[in-house]
Amino acid sequence: MATINSNFLKLKAGYLFPEIARRVRAYSDANPAAAARIIRCGIGDVTEPLPAAAIAALHAGVDELACRDTFKGYGPEQGYEFLRQAIVDHQFAGLGIAADEVFISDGSKCDTGNILDIFGKGNVIAITDPVYPVYVDTNVMAGNTGEADAKGAYAGLLYLPCNAANGFVAEVPGEHADLIYLCFPNNPTGAVATRAQLEAWVTYARANDAIILFDAAYEAYIQDPAIPRSIFEIEGALECAIEFRSFSKNGGFTGVRCAYVVIPQAVTGSDGMGGRVPLHQLWSRRHCTKFNGASYPVQKAAAALFSPEGKAQVTALIDHYMGNAKLLREACTAVGLPVFGGVNAPYVWVGCPAGLSSWDLFDKMLHDAQVVITPGSGFGAAGEGYFRISSFNSRANVEEVCRRLQALLGC
Ligand code: MLT
Repeated sequence: MATINSNFLKLKAGYLFPEIARRVRAYSDANPAAAARIIRCGIGDVTEPLPAAAIAALHAGVDELACRDTFKGYGPEQGYEFLRQAIVDHQFAGLGIAADEVFISDGSKCDTGNILDIFGKGNVIAITDPVYPVYVDTNVMAGNTGEADAKGAYAGLLYLPCNAANGFVAEVPGEHADLIYLCFPNNPTGAVATRAQLEAWVTYARANDAIILFDAAYEAYIQDPAIPRSIFEIEGALECAIEFRSFSKNGGFTGVRCAYVVIPQAVTGSDGMGGRVPLHQLWSRRHCTKFNGASYPVQKAAAALFSPEGKAQVTALIDHYMGNAKLLREACTAVGLPVFGGVNAPYVWVGCPAGLSSWDLFDKMLHDAQVVITPGSGFGAAGEGYFRISSFNSRANVEEVCRRLQALLGC
């Protein structure tokens, strides 16, 4: 008899976004007339067409595949050199990153989950609360936790509370951790970390011989020039951090799929017998065994985002979504709710009206305003009492959401 990975049985309910989709579908089926009015500000999925530079490169890449002389089969598992070098030149110039330290993939969700393959058992894992649920769920699946309690907190994880008092930026803990997940700009709260806050984390990681898993998927949304865009801007991070980046939210590649992980050669882990092993070597080995590379036209399209016209088009996309974030922030503020994020990030994090839990508010917004938001408790126990609005939408839809918010929650 085949046995299962019983760690899966510890997972709470379904994954957050399919669960939201299920509830929206049930509402739509029961209320077909209202369904047409639904505006989705839940999952952070882009809505605007791909930048023209990416479209042109995709077409050109496909045309190359149509011709014997330029046809390509399997590419390098770690990604084509042209894309790895473009990433270094345009995203990490002067930070001491080499092209062979960049691993191209098909998404940051997969990367942040798969990275656990290269770590052993028994690590103390620090996770912020609220948090992008993938970090928690993949640790549960890997057997790195015990059972969840009534609030959904898993035994064995070191939770780092993020709240209004600390500006939703986790402080370094008093106790030891081996692996630390940080996400800035933050999903779900939209918070960003200052240079001093990141310096404190790097100092902590070095003192504890820990590794920082730094998710920078929303880096392109940083507006404040004083906020670091990469953990590698912090001295010492080249020895203790791995960074995850994506083309999903800057180039609108959520459906195209392309991302990357940066693992400096100097980042090592213990082999448990007194030796040190470069994590780069392990991830490269893993990639070769489990991944055959992102598709060639997709990597061409990603590289095109770094062309002068590609960069201008990405900036226009970011400006569009950040304009939406500003409107959503203003609308929530106008109805008297506490508002966070949405300044250097596409997510606006909002306190629920008094007396409503985050799922209560989800239902109210869906049933009475036909607006889908994400309930804060879906990101962890500390997210209770908050909701997240995504600014990934058309301007017309966001303006309509603002009107409906006012009508529903304004006095
Ligand atoms: C979100 O809404 O949190 C994101 O879309 C999740 C993701 O990028 O996987």
